[in-house]
Order: sequence, then structure tokens, then C-alpha cells
Amino acid sequence: MPMERIPVFKPLIEQEEFEASRGALELGWLGMGSYVGQFEEALKTYIGTADRQVVAVSTGHAALHIGLLLMGVGPGDEVITPAFNNAADFQAILATGAEPVFCDIDPDSLCIDLTKAEELVSPRTKVIIVMDYDCVLCDHDRVAAFAQAHGLRVLHDAAHALGSAYKGRMVGSFSDVTTFSFDPVKTITCLDGGALIVRTEEERQKLHEMRLIGMSQPSAVMYTNARAWTYDMRTIGFRYHMANLHAAIGLAQLAKMDRIAVSRRSAGRYYNENLSSLPGLIVPKTDFEGITPFLYYIRVPAAERDALRAFLNDRGIDTGIHWQPGHWFTLLKECRRGDLSVTDRVAHEILSLPLHSIMTPDTLNRIISAIRSFFGQR
Ligand SMILES: Cc1ncc(COP(=O)(O)O)c(C=O)c1O
Repeated sequence: MPMERIPVFKPLIEQEEFEASRGALELGWLGMGSYVGQFEEALKTYIGTADRQVVAVSTGHAALHIGLLLMGVGPGDEVITPAFNNAADFQAILATGAEPVFCDIDPDSLCIDLTKAEELVSPRTKVIIVMDYDCVLCDHDRVAAFAQAHGLRVLHDAAHALGSAYKGRMVGSFSDVTTFSFDPVKTITCLDGGALIVRTEEERQKLHEMRLIGMSQPSAVMYTNARAWTYDMRTIGFRYHMANLHAAIGLAQLAKMDRIAVSRRSAGRYYNENLSSLPGLIVPKTDFEGITPFLYYIRVPAAERDALRAFLNDRGIDTGIHWQPGHWFTLLKECRRGDLSVTDRVAHEILSLPLHSIMTPDTLNRIISAIRSFFGQR
């Protein structure tokens, strides 16, 4: 019997998600409604951030876009971002009319290198985007000090860090503005979805209008599965709201977060334990304490990476590349940047291994033994 392929990502869709979908469809209010309000409340409770405001949106990209607009980013401004980041971050900056400025990453964390970021700050810099990569968090205390020293606002892209804690504080509870993604492959999915976490009620209200093509329809009314027929328009807006069906699935997923976190964390530890001794291979520098990994990566000598990918592919194991850095893209190659030598090196070495919310020991052992045999070890 041929062996089952192991995908890089595998959503955890069980009975609860089917029931949640049915409930949302039977309700008959398909747009933004009661489930969205409940999802925001559940996320707030999960993160434990009573003094912050949660706004659900259609995607992580939408969250980044209106997060930057909320901070007043626009034409003529610069936004510093790690070059080693998701295309959504670059596109969100461009969508505001601002310009991305590419910063290198720290070779240990693969998150933004704040020492190198110092050299990139200009009078036009408005925001610094920091992103927790895969299973390692940024040094967020240093990020806050950096931003304060330069008078910048921080957009914390936590698409990879739902369920992780920095120095005992849940991600989402401490940054200036935090964004999450709940796309099909994320730690939890809403099919597609995103969220922003902001400090003030005023920011929340502004985001409510921005996600609803600028309409000042009160979310409190929409969360009763109704709408106001008259409203004002005071701000630029987009069709970025979250739909009920998506929120219902997100609620079912969020209820499983503890199980998901335990499983992902132990898979990350098992990978590290079994792969760290392989010569030339670099594993993430973390003991996974307090971390709910979204992805697990290894760094393979550049000359061997594609051969390893092909070797694993032949054995039914998929791998991914996160990511090609921003300055490699045609659209972005003229963007201002500093020294990107670490990014350039890492981008040729990086390889994402399969990591699912619930991963069986058999699956993990199959992947590990295939990698070990590529390196001539049992
Ligand atoms: C770091 C990061 N930010 C933002 C996004 C965009 O999220 P979405 O796919 O929900 O638009 C992703 C998606 O993979 C991501 O990895």
C-alpha cells in the first residue's frame, strides 16, 4: 500500500467545526453578526487582555492594512519591516501608499535585527513591523524601547504566535497594535480571518468603520444579527469584515487551543531533540517553553537544501519555504534597505517541515528518520 503523503499543513477539522458551520448557516444571517462578536470576546478571554480591544476582520492582510492606516501611515512615509517576512506585510505597506524599508534578521531568532534597524530610521519612518517567526518570538521589551527611543509605533505581526507567551505575557496583550491571521493553514483557522488588538475604544471604533467600507453602522447592532439602515461615512474603508460562518468555525477552533498548543509544542520539542545533532543542520533556538509553534523549520546548508527537499518528496513528505525575502521580488527590488546578508543566507537554507495541530508519533518519526537517512545517520 502506498504511504500516505504528509502535507506541510493540515487543518484540524472535526465534528465541532461541522456543527458550528451548520449552526451558522441555519441562522440565516450570513454576514457579520453574533458569531463575530462572540469570536472577538472569546479571543479576548483566551489572550487574557481585558484592557485591550479586539477587532475581527476578513484576513491577516486586512488586519495589517487597516492597522497601518490606523497608525496614520500614508504616502511619503516609510515602514521598517524585516525583509524576511510574509508578502502580506509588504503589500499592506504598499496599499497605504507608504514604502517598505527592508531590515535584516537576527541569525538566532530569525526575527528583526534591532541593531541594524537603528541605521534605517529616517525622518520619514513612522512604524516598525516586527514579526515572530515560526516558533521564536522577538525580543519585545527591546522592540518597545526601540520604538520609544525613535518615536515610532509598533505593528506586531503575530500571525505565527497565537497562543505563545513572552516573559509570561500572552502575545496580543502587550504590543502597541497586534495582528493575527486565521487563514486556512494557521494554528487555528476561520477558513479565512484575521484580528487586530488595539489599546483604546476610539481605535476600535475607527477599525469598525474601516472594516465595513467606511460605514458607521454600529457593530453592537450587527452583533444582534441586524443592521442600521442609516449611517455616516467618515473614513476610508474596505470590505474587510469577518462573516458569521468564519467566526463560528473560529470559535470551535479556539475552544481547542489548549490541546493544539500542547501537541504543537511537543512536536517542536521532538523535532529539536532528534534533529539538533545532525552535522550542518541548524534547528530553532528555543526550548518551546511558553511557545505554540505555527511552523517548524530547519536550516540546511544551501548546497544541500534542494536535494533534501527532493529526497523527502520522493518519500511522500512535503516541505515548504518560508520565505523568499522581500527584496528578491521584482516589485520591491528598488526599496531602501540595509545590509541583508543574514536574510540572504538564511533564505537559501530555510526549510519548513510538516507541523500539524495534532501530529502522531508515527508521522513525526517518519519525517525524522527520512531526514536522518539523508544525512547518512540512523
Ligand atoms: C507573518 C504573516 N503575516 C501575515 C500573513 C497574512 O495573513 P492572511 O493569509 O490571513 O492574509 C501571513 C500569512 O501567512 C503571515 O505568515
